[in-house]
Amino acid sequence: MKDTLKECIKEKKTSYTPIWFMRQAGRYLPEFRKIRKKNPDFINLCLNPNLVNEITLQPIKRFDLDAAIIFSDILMIPYGLGQKVEFKKGFGPILGDVNFDEIINTNPTDFVKKLLPIYKGIEKVKDNLKEKNLIGFAGAPWTLLVYMLNKESPKNNFNFKKINKDKFLINKLLIKIEEMICLHIDKQIESGANIIQIFDSWAGLLPKKELPNYCYIPTLKVIEHIKLKKIPVICFPKGIRENYIDFCSTVKPDCISIDYEVDPKWIKEKLNGLPIQGGLDPKILLTDKEKIKKNIENYLNIFKDYPYIFNLGHGVLPDVKPETIEYIIKLVREKR
Ligand code: CP3
Repeated sequence: MKDTLKECIKEKKTSYTPIWFMRQAGRYLPEFRKIRKKNPDFINLCLNPNLVNEITLQPIKRFDLDAAIIFSDILMIPYGLGQKVEFKKGFGPILGDVNFDEIINTNPTDFVKKLLPIYKGIEKVKDNLKEKNLIGFAGAPWTLLVYMLNKESPKNNFNFKKINKDKFLINKLLIKIEEMICLHIDKQIESGANIIQIFDSWAGLLPKKELPNYCYIPTLKVIEHIKLKKIPVICFPKGIRENYIDFCSTVKPDCISIDYEVDPKWIKEKLNGLPIQGGLDPKILLTDKEKIKKNIENYLNIFKDYPYIFNLGHGVLPDVKPETIEYIIKLVREKR
């Protein structure tokens, strides 16, 4: 089937529920772990077009999902800007020191050159994928800023005041990040991506009064750029709770991806028909079939006759069994 996500988002079609998963290509899949074992350097893996193609298609071959998401990482943008990026096993990403001058003066041509293998990988996927939607993505400006300045996941330690200290410098950096996100997305679209998702995984760290400055306005700039290309854009401002409504009225994405803290009934009533994606708590996938079924039916019942893309409220966890993903797909497809 082709363009099922696009039909849901653009035509607000409700007769079919498209399904894909954030982190659908990842450690819960034995075929991914096999490749990963032979490729200890994660950045190099993301820069290998043949393996990008192979890994992106792994979950499609196994589950026949409605869309592929390109196998890459949001931290490829800091990498393209010359910052050192490493992934330490059991710890997560570790980034090098920020050289503000070097980053702000990065030449767009050099940036694209460094990330060219990603775009080559997308072209390969596009050739092999044929009909289905191909999702390109980027981190939102705020989430990238957090990783670049914090140099590790803010899950470990984070201090907003430290980031907000030198407003002038931070603003310059944010503007550069926004430009590079737009460029990275343009290249992904040129290479074959036909839907874009923006991950603002750490939007929930922002105090309410700072959301416009660091989340809504920088994201809006990126969204307006993507809209010029007539490509649907999905936003995932994770963790902003009741502010999802302000986010949607300010940023106006084509579709909103909700996290597991959002009450699906509440948001459906507030959003006036804006297509919604996701929501189910990824931890539910580690429980039993009965509980999984009950939770899935809840989302499907709430979003009956509403443009809804089935997905989780965050990425698939590494301990999930592939059979559980299969079971969920069966449930969603049987229901409509
Ligand atoms: O969804 C997909 O299947 C596409 C690929 C994808 C990856 N990362 C591959 C990956 C996507 C869309 C991302 C986005 C991403 N990367 C986000 C936003 C979404 C989210 O999860 O909030 C963030 C914050 C990152 C940064 C990142 N990358 C972290 C914090 C980590 C380490 C922690 C972890 O979950 O493993 C990564 C590594 C990473 N990116 C892996 C994969 C498959 C695991 C690599 C491994 O160790 O094998």
